Amino acid sequence: MKTLLVTGGCGFIGSNFIRYMLDKHPDYMIIGIDALTYAGNPENLKSIEDNPNYRFFRADIRNRNMIEQIFAFYTIDYVVNFAAESHVDRSIKEPDVFLTTNILGTQVLLDAAKRQWRLHPGNKYDRSYRDGVRFHQISTDEVYGSADDGEKFTEESPLRPSSPYSASKAGADMVAMAYRRTYGLPVTISRSSNNYGPYQFPEKLIPLIIINCIYDRPLPVYGDGLQIRDWLHVNDHCRAVDMILHSGKDGDIYNIGGDNEKANIDIVKQIIHTLGKSEELINYVEDRPGHDRRYATDSTKIETQLGWSRNHSFEQGLEECISWYLNNMGWVKRIVSGEYRRYFETMYG
Ligand code: NAD
Ligand code: TYD
Repeated sequence: MKTLLVTGGCGFIGSNFIRYMLDKHPDYMIIGIDALTYAGNPENLKSIEDNPNYRFFRADIRNRNMIEQIFAFYTIDYVVNFAAESHVDRSIKEPDVFLTTNILGTQVLLDAAKRQWRLHPGNKYDRSYRDGVRFHQISTDEVYGSADDGEKFTEESPLRPSSPYSASKAGADMVAMAYRRTYGLPVTISRSSNNYGPYQFPEKLIPLIIINCIYDRPLPVYGDGLQIRDWLHVNDHCRAVDMILHSGKDGDIYNIGGDNEKANIDIVKQIIHTLGKSEELINYVEDRPGHDRRYATDSTKIETQLGWSRNHSFEQGLEECISWYLNNMGWVKRIVSGEYRRYFETMYG
């Protein structure tokens, strides 16, 4: 039995990851922690909330006291840190919380993990001992900044983040690797491209366009709409993180890309056509400041070293994703109306 601490577990990728891991490793205990910001929705995990191998704590990763208490109570084998402020547009308007959560919150977790690693019974302060807690930091391909035509970023590419969001994620990566080098804490990092799939908060491109389309609302397209993202199905991301936890090399960084570059406007049109709506809904709006033109991730390392590959084609994955939102309009409506917040306020205070 292994114990896995998953932060940000009530968000989009974290909730998909927890469901994936409980299914794949039914003997694992999963401790989910989440501050339940606007992006955290416990309803995302309703299907597993009674699973005896899952525990939830409402906790802010910046709250050192609470994080240390959780580490004191459980002997944790793996930490997977998804908790973050994750939306570039919000980071442009309110950068402060991005820096405190994404960098300082990560540091609090690293400190707690380091303490437990040093106290691990087999460890005896031996820096070569590598079987205690493993800290996995969920990063993003956005830390590499915008790619030129034909260029693809590898794990060796320099970090050139453009937004307060991506800068804060790059900062967290640096701090995590510094904890490995300085204190010997086992650390891995993964940098994934843009994810899509069920339970994504409708501020991000794909769910926003699907939901606005369903309601015949204008579809905001920034600038000329020709910016390129490399889309990855969330389940393929979850499987990659599982492989890194179990077979990844301590100290290594792994890119996880979709090998699926699409211009934003093409995605918007694909959603319009699938839902049988009119392109007249498209509304070109002012561009995002500092907008990265293109992301392109080279996943050769995780493919060749860990044997990872994608199970989802984008065409089928996007259709299934659209169907999921259509079949879960209750979930959508509770977010759009704000009712989802009342749900957890009554449950967690
Ligand atoms: P999300 O915004 O849907 O979820 C983030 C979760 O973290 C929420 O549940 C929120 O309540 C929680 N959280 C925020 N601040 C917290 C704090 N201080 N303490 C505890 N919990 C807190 O984000 P997501 O899309 O699921 O992204 C998860 C992770 O994956 C992030 O680290 C993000 O940088 C990374 N990532 C996301 C994508 C993507 O396309 N969505 C791509 C690459 C990497
Ligand atoms: P987003 O989903 O916010 O992810 P990220 O900025 O992290 O890549 O945006 C994806 C792309 O879609 C990005 O180029 C910005 C663009 N975009 C729009 O054109 N309109 C929108 O309403 C949103 C939210 C994003």
